Amino acid sequence: MREMTATNLRSAFSGESMAHMRYLRWADRAEEEGYPNVARLFRAISHAERVHATNHFNELKNESGDFPVTAAGGFGVGSTSDNLQGAINGENFEINEMYPAYLAVAELQGEKGAIRSMNFAISAEKIHSAMYQEAKQSVDAGRDKELGPIRICGVCGYTAEGEIPQRCPVCGAGRDKFDSFE
Ligand SMILES: [Fe+2]
Ligand SMILES: [Fe+2]
Repeated sequence: MREMTATNLRSAFSGESMAHMRYLRWADRAEEEGYPNVARLFRAISHAERVHATNHFNELKNESGDFPVTAAGGFGVGSTSDNLQGAINGENFEINEMYPAYLAVAELQGEKGAIRSMNFAISAEKIHSAMYQEAKQSVDAGRDKELGPIRICGVCGYTAEGEIPQRCPVCGAGRDKFDSFE
């Protein structure tokens, strides 16, 4: 893999790994504040970020070694409203800046595996941002979010509320590949 793409993919792996852990902590906070559905949303999306991190890590399988990695990531444990805003900010950074920039480099360098892995991620991040924004509206109105079962594609991290799709609309995986948070 070309060096710039490898460096970017390591950074993306790091960012997704941090998001995975951050959302689990913020899920516990939502539980403490009496928002069990928001907690479930954080846990489901945490799982999607794990799928993204794993995909990036797998694409880097021939790039072994020790590397210092720089990645952007939000810190702090505030109120659930603050944490949701932090989550929205992080998702929007990935959607509007990080992945478009990394994808442009990967496309220039013809790195097909990295392009696939990052396209899987950015598709899901768009859904995450919208779900977090809806959750924040509920919390700011003093209510837990009404939320059906949340389904996560174990191949690409696609995230949906409701029934499991026959095929993942992003990667084409079958229903047996989905994990449910209900
Ligand atoms: Fe996300
Ligand atoms: Fe998928």
